[in-house]
Amino acid sequence: MSKFDFSNQSTLSSTKLDIIILHSQKGGPGKTTLSCNIAKELAKRGNKTVIIDLDIAQPTIQHIFHIDDIDIKHTINDVLLGETSVSEDVLNKTDDPNLFAIVAKENVEYGEGLLSMLEEIQKHSFFALHEMTKFLLRMGFRYVIYDCAPGYKLESVNAAAIADARIFVLRPSTFSYEGSKQMLNDIYKKLNIRSSNFFVFNQLPPNLKEESQNLLNSWKDGIVELYEPETIKFLDFLPISHEIMEMGLTGEYIFPESNPLYKRLTKIVDTVVETLDEMKKVKLKEES
Ligand SMILES: Nc1ncnc2c1ncn2[C@@H]1O[C@H](COP(=O)(O)OP(=O)(O)O)[C@@H](O)[C@H]1O
Ligand SMILES: [Mg+2]
Repeated sequence: MSKFDFSNQSTLSSTKLDIIILHSQKGGPGKTTLSCNIAKELAKRGNKTVIIDLDIAQPTIQHIFHIDDIDIKHTINDVLLGETSVSEDVLNKTDDPNLFAIVAKENVEYGEGLLSMLEEIQKHSFFALHEMTKFLLRMGFRYVIYDCAPGYKLESVNAAAIADARIFVLRPSTFSYEGSKQMLNDIYKKLNIRSSNFFVFNQLPPNLKEESQNLLNSWKDGIVELYEPETIKFLDFLPISHEIMEMGLTGEYIFPESNPLYKRLTKIVDTVVETLDEMKKVKLKEES
């Protein structure tokens, strides 16, 4: 008997799983914030969705979704280390019946323990992520969101390689822009195999001077141009919200519907979903 009730999955779209990753060059631009809110919104729209914490060194998803230690049987670490085969034991329920979470292990010992674990994870991650995809397909999931570790970590790059949609998150800072351009050029352009690419600036200060807004617009164009002849879609310039910042104090990441960021997020979800559906139509046409 399955631990989880998937009996209503026939009412869901039978189209296969879409893999969405959120990645950035540096830490802190808002990958986790956007991952959780995108996952929550997709689930709210009736899609069986799973969010996976791939930021092994700084896990957060467990706390955001209030999952107790005692309820966790296996973590993504076990899967990436090849210590367990992927099974329902990795899935944790959240307060939305359509949304599940796969968490990363908390309190890993630091020092050599962490380093050797990260090395092992890098070794096994490509195979492990493929196994994960097969498992999630079997379970009837419609979307998986990977909240990646920043930078060039191999597990993040491997997730980027298998993703259907990649959302790259930047801060409005020249270091974020320059570093991101480098990374998009080094990795993303080279992995441009049939996936949809997006980028979003997050945490914009209010009341920008005209010259600052012009600079940001030139960065937006710079990224689109860098990507040519392939395409990367600009999603939004998301503002800093003091309410969201304050909620962050107690580990609350989900946007209240009354916050203006919620509306902006639903538009992002619309764009990503439409682009993925469009891509699927093209693929189907080519196959027939
Ligand atoms: N638009 C925003 N307005 C206010 N605070 C934000 C916004 N986006 C993210 N934050 C806050 O910034 C911090 C870092 O965000 P997080 O999503 O954890 O970044 P990352 O996962 O990329 O490291 C968190 O405390 C989060 O609440
Ligand atoms: Mg994070």
